[in-house]
Amino acid sequence: MPEFQRPRGTRDFGPGEMAKRRFVESNMRETASTFGFGEVMTPTFESTDLFIARSGEDIVNEMYAFEDKGGRNIALRPELTASVMRFYVNEMQSLPKPVKLFYYGNMFRYERPQAGRYREFFQFGAELIGAPSIEADAEVIALALASLKNIGLEEIVVRIGNLTILKSVFDRTDLTEKAKKECRRLIDKDDMDGLSKIMPEKALNELMMLFSSPEKSYEILNNYEGGIYLLKLIKKLEAYGFDNCTIDYKVARGLDYYTGMVFEIDAPSLGAEKQICGGGAYKLADLFGGQEVNSTGYAFGFDRIMLALENSDVKISGKKLDAYILPIGDNPNIKTDAIKILMQLRDAGISADMDLMGRNMKKAMKYANNIGAEKVIIIGENELAEESVTVRDMTSGEQELISTSEIIQYISK
Ligand code: HAM
Repeated sequence: MPEFQRPRGTRDFGPGEMAKRRFVESNMRETASTFGFGEVMTPTFESTDLFIARSGEDIVNEMYAFEDKGGRNIALRPELTASVMRFYVNEMQSLPKPVKLFYYGNMFRYERPQAGRYREFFQFGAELIGAPSIEADAEVIALALASLKNIGLEEIVVRIGNLTILKSVFDRTDLTEKAKKECRRLIDKDDMDGLSKIMPEKALNELMMLFSSPEKSYEILNNYEGGIYLLKLIKKLEAYGFDNCTIDYKVARGLDYYTGMVFEIDAPSLGAEKQICGGGAYKLADLFGGQEVNSTGYAFGFDRIMLALENSDVKISGKKLDAYILPIGDNPNIKTDAIKILMQLRDAGISADMDLMGRNMKKAMKYANNIGAEKVIIIGENELAEESVTVRDMTSGEQELISTSEIIQYISK
């Protein structure tokens, strides 16, 4: 039994897994760039007060928060919206609006680990700051949906809600602010029994009517300003080419800073931890000492997306090795040629590796197969004499003698 184990709720990722993760990550980066978003990076830890300002004292129980050697209260970031908005307030307020930012990184939450729920996990997210419009909400949701489409994850459920509707129902009750917050939590958890114990009957009946398939009842939607907004938003998303969005008033979001539109995306194949994305419209800049601006954003649970892709028909093969070079024998000229060819290939952007273990032909072929090399380039005495190499295609098993000067062209085709 090894002496050291990884901390609870964390994971190690091997090269195969990392290749897949990087593929998805760069695909998402490309999509965000095509939407005109630019990448930002902020520190892994922040002052604990930043997160308390955003979510209240209780958040400390859910964070990796500690006092550093200088006596400062520090927390590992549990999400990135607060950090990005701090960065925006500190340095980006004078930029032309809207400011469109995206990010990728590791987050830390002190949770009870289970499948799809970790203490260190990764988010890919985006924030659109400074456009107080339905167009901004549509652009952000469209980016999330385009990102999922581009990685091939099609089996998703998109649920869009509007907190102003819940708020208007709550405001017609005499519930305290604390009780309203609890009601929002219960709705978010879909705990209708719990809700019926707190919510006055009239308001409860109104909510139940709303929760029963609102998209079918335009009449109900048209009774609420927030409902009309949602109908318009759905139309805009259809113009973007996304007609898979549904209205769901139960989307109440656990975090407290949302102001209007909120949305969640589920991958049903994941079971209990099926939520792969959460976001909405919010205001945070004034809380952090800046000028108030409207923002909309979301974050993907990147790890859950990887799990959902594994459950789907989409096959992401981690990038294979294009060429594995096998020098045969002890002739130093062969070894020198092998290195030259190796570096020519690498310089041309072809992934290439070389035998460093002095393996014989049989063992080298087995190894090349194991690491998923597409081609093996063999250089022996005959090849050296003819200024050529033997290239073996590992899928078909066919071999060809190729002139050294044509090797790059041959491997790249
Ligand atoms: P969130 O809903 O707390 O929102 O997290 C976003 C996503 O991160 C979730 O939908 C889930 O997929 C993933 N996630 C959360 N906790 C864990 C965990 N322990 N293990 C694995 N995955 C997890 C936010 O973080 C907001 N900052 C989103 C946002 C951006 N709102 C506006 N802008």
